[in-house]
Amino acid sequence: MKFKINKVCAQSEIRVNFDKALKFNKVSFDNNQLNIGLGEDAPTAKTLKKLATTLAQTANQFNISALFLPILAVEDFVGIATQAMANNDYQVQKVNLDTPDANILQSVTFADGEQNSIDKAVAIASGMALSRMLGDMPSNICTPTYLAKTAQDLAQEFGLDCEVLEESDMSALGMGSLLSVSKGSIEVPKLISLSYTGKGNAKPIVLVGKGVTFDSGGISLKPGTGMDEMKYDMCGAAGVLGTMRAVAEMQLKVNLTIVVPAVENMPAHNASKPGDVVTSMSGKTIEILNTDAEGRLILCDALTWVEKFNPEVVIDTATLTGAVIIALGKHHCGVMANDQNLADDLITAGKTAMDTAWQLPLDDEYDELLKSNFADMGNIGGREAGTVTAACFLSRFTKNYRWAHIDIAGTAWVSGAKKGATGRPVPLLTQYILNQIKG
Ligand code: BES
Ligand code: MN
Ligand code: ZN
Repeated sequence: MKFKINKVCAQSEIRVNFDKALKFNKVSFDNNQLNIGLGEDAPTAKTLKKLATTLAQTANQFNISALFLPILAVEDFVGIATQAMANNDYQVQKVNLDTPDANILQSVTFADGEQNSIDKAVAIASGMALSRMLGDMPSNICTPTYLAKTAQDLAQEFGLDCEVLEESDMSALGMGSLLSVSKGSIEVPKLISLSYTGKGNAKPIVLVGKGVTFDSGGISLKPGTGMDEMKYDMCGAAGVLGTMRAVAEMQLKVNLTIVVPAVENMPAHNASKPGDVVTSMSGKTIEILNTDAEGRLILCDALTWVEKFNPEVVIDTATLTGAVIIALGKHHCGVMANDQNLADDLITAGKTAMDTAWQLPLDDEYDELLKSNFADMGNIGGREAGTVTAACFLSRFTKNYRWAHIDIAGTAWVSGAKKGATGRPVPLLTQYILNQIKG
């Protein structure tokens, strides 16, 4: 089985040898053989992912264009190794510079395995690359308009249906909550939808992704340190666009619609102020107690609007709360749902895809924290359980369908020296969709 990264390979194949005697993840060369340390423990999916990444990095470092891999006794060896190696191909696009292709490795051959696993892994990696590219882009380039253009380009490439609502359309629909976030910004808001039809007139799976292309906090301004990372506040949008790319590349027998409310959150003389009351598309009124809790304000109108698709299920994903990083750190996504089977299915898919999620509760007691003296609800619930109260807010707009919410504030990108988007939750969402087809 062969997995081609892109171009034709120029160099001879280098054989890889998984070496038990070598320390885990260490590499050494022996004539024309590349040894990689397995360590003493039996290899698992997780350790294989690490090994495959190291192999791809080593190949690029040592000018190796082709690798030949034996198979280890790990379920879906070929899929996991392919996805890790293809994901390693991603490169940040430098503004105004042609990014030279630093990937020397061009082809990987496996001793055995299913072509189907390879194709699936390559499609997921391709969706992740799109998602990472959008996330890493600066917010002066990746604006709501840019996200709309990206969706239109995907529609062109794969023959999808694309609809982009403008400010005036949203105003006519009564989306006062969404528009209250974008009104302080010079960037015009967009409500983007993209539909893939692979299963006749079956009800679609609908994915909604938060697309705040920059979150300054608005009048409730964020502190300066690390504010650059709020360009990543559109990683929910990037995640659903990436998932669409993966599904369309695989031509899956499923109907999928993605929806992206895209805005920029800025302070301005005409921005929303704490205490302002707005009316959402649902008719419910919201007291904006903190303009930095803007994600829920755009999502609630998008979640009302998606009813028009008559969804089988609705899953939103968003960099919604800093609190989820306190609760779960940077390893698991947070998942909350009004349907336990749906939550279970997402958690199962996350495990398979190695893009894991952990459930948080959604009880009425938390919902009470959203009480307002001046509107149907406030947009914040106070310091406690911030991830849960954010989801409670959303759940008030999702009563008419099965719904889950995935908070990716901790998982969508990494900070520090290796700052960059991760491509999550594309693997989780794509695996969930794959499982629906099988089931
Ligand atoms: N985009 C942020 C959430 C966030 C913060 C993601 C840090 C990743 C890292 C969101 O819009 C936000 O500002 N949420 C507030 C909510 C609060 C005002 C109730 C938060 O988490 O502080
Ligand atoms: Mn915010
Ligand atoms: Zn935000």
